[in-house]
Amino acid sequence: MEKIKGLIFDLDGVIVDTAKYHYLAWKALALELNIPFTERDNEKLKGVSRRKSFEIILEIGNMVMSEEEKEKYCTKKNNIYLEYIDKLKEEEVLKGVKKFIADAREKGYKIALGSASKNAGLILSKLNLTGAFDAVIDGTKVEKAKPDPEVFLLGARALGVDKEACIVFEDAKAGVEAAHNGGMKAVGIGTKENLPNADLCISGLENISVGELLKQMK
Ligand code: BG6
Ligand code: MG
Repeated sequence: MEKIKGLIFDLDGVIVDTAKYHYLAWKALALELNIPFTERDNEKLKGVSRRKSFEIILEIGNMVMSEEEKEKYCTKKNNIYLEYIDKLKEEEVLKGVKKFIADAREKGYKIALGSASKNAGLILSKLNLTGAFDAVIDGTKVEKAKPDPEVFLLGARALGVDKEACIVFEDAKAGVEAAHNGGMKAVGIGTKENLPNADLCISGLENISVGELLKQMK
């Protein structure tokens, strides 16, 4: 493995557990549309863009909608989601994240965010994490959704680090795939069962340093 110099983090599910808020917002919308939508279905939406997520929900309900209507519902879902985000507290940053990133930065690693979310800037500011990243690439800056590697390639470029010298931290299958499609290794946050293609799976960033993690990946 080339010497790793850049660390690229997904946001939802890696830095903060916002998946539960995405779920609650989609659930409210699904209820309104009479579509059965479970937490298990929600797994399929991890890492997936807002529009694509809604299309998956419509598929579950066997429903077809015009692009205009889809846009309307996506805005509605986002407004519900933003009510939860408004109440987001710094304490909700997942355990170990702040320390892991601060230590890595101190050791000279460059740190980027690579998220599909268009709300990433707002979420980082709510969590007092805006300054923790050398670069932030989010859903407002990309055209192609994960598993396309665009978000991570832009992240590596923004850090000024070769893509082969970056690793990605992801909790979603589509994200692990995106990292691999970009020629990067992926650390899965979660279980091997959920993320079978990740190069290493860990339960979270607590009690592990970047040095130990890279050793385990060799
Ligand atoms: C990803 C989440 O990070 O962002 C998805 O895992 C979400 O569940 C996507 O749909 C887009 O987020 P947003 O905030 O732009 O609706
Ligand atoms: Mg995620």
